[in-house]
Amino acid sequence: VPAGLAVRVARADDAEAIARIHNEGIAERVATFQTATQHGPEIAKEIERGRLVLVAELDGTVVGWASVAPYDDAHEYYSGVAEATLYVERGARRAGAGTALLGELAVEAERHGCYKLIGKVFTSNRPSIALVRSSGWREVGIHRRHGRLDGRWKDVLVVELLLGDAREEG
Ligand SMILES: CC(C)(COP(=O)(O)OP(=O)(O)OC[C@H]1O[C@@H](n2cnc3c(N)ncnc32)[C@H](O)[C@@H]1OP(=O)(O)O)[C@@H](O)C(=O)NCCC(=O)NCCS
Repeated sequence: VPAGLAVRVARADDAEAIARIHNEGIAERVATFQTATQHGPEIAKEIERGRLVLVAELDGTVVGWASVAPYDDAHEYYSGVAEATLYVERGARRAGAGTALLGELAVEAERHGCYKLIGKVFTSNRPSIALVRSSGWREVGIHRRHGRLDGRWKDVLVVELLLGDAREEG
């Protein structure tokens, strides 16, 4: 981890910074179908409920966050699969925060009993594809026209990282 950079579990009082960084990412229109503004108090509630959320600090300031959401709430047999999300503030990118967050998210998700993380990445999102590639994730395949963002179809690359005993060959 580069000097000045640290990753830790988020506290409820990080929620405003997390919302700000998420909203900046939503406004960029590069990473998500989500267009609705995110609000700190709701994020604080999720953190208090025990959702796994990590933040990256650069010289003591929160510059990024990562979290997991259930892949499939309806089916108990998928409870070990989680979907990862991460955002780094625009001004703090290319400093290793994304790599550090994704690495620590895998460690924490495994500790929480997950055997797999999945990610859904727009095929147009080159920084994110480069990040997951350099972090050892595998590319599963591409969903064509998986949704519309501002009226335009987007293709979505599904990526995954096996954890724990799922990591073993065979
Ligand atoms: C994708 C994102 C999280 C990367 O975060 P980051 O802190 O910049 O990532 P890192 O500094 O750890 O970069 C890791 C590697 O990814 C690749 N990478 C990152 N940004 C890149 C870019 N703009 N162009 C090409 N490669 C890039 C590089 O290989 C980089 O390693 P290097 O800097 O040593 O060359 C960040 O760009 C971001 O928040 N984007 C908007 C939101 C988003 O796309 N989230 C992910 C989708 S769910």
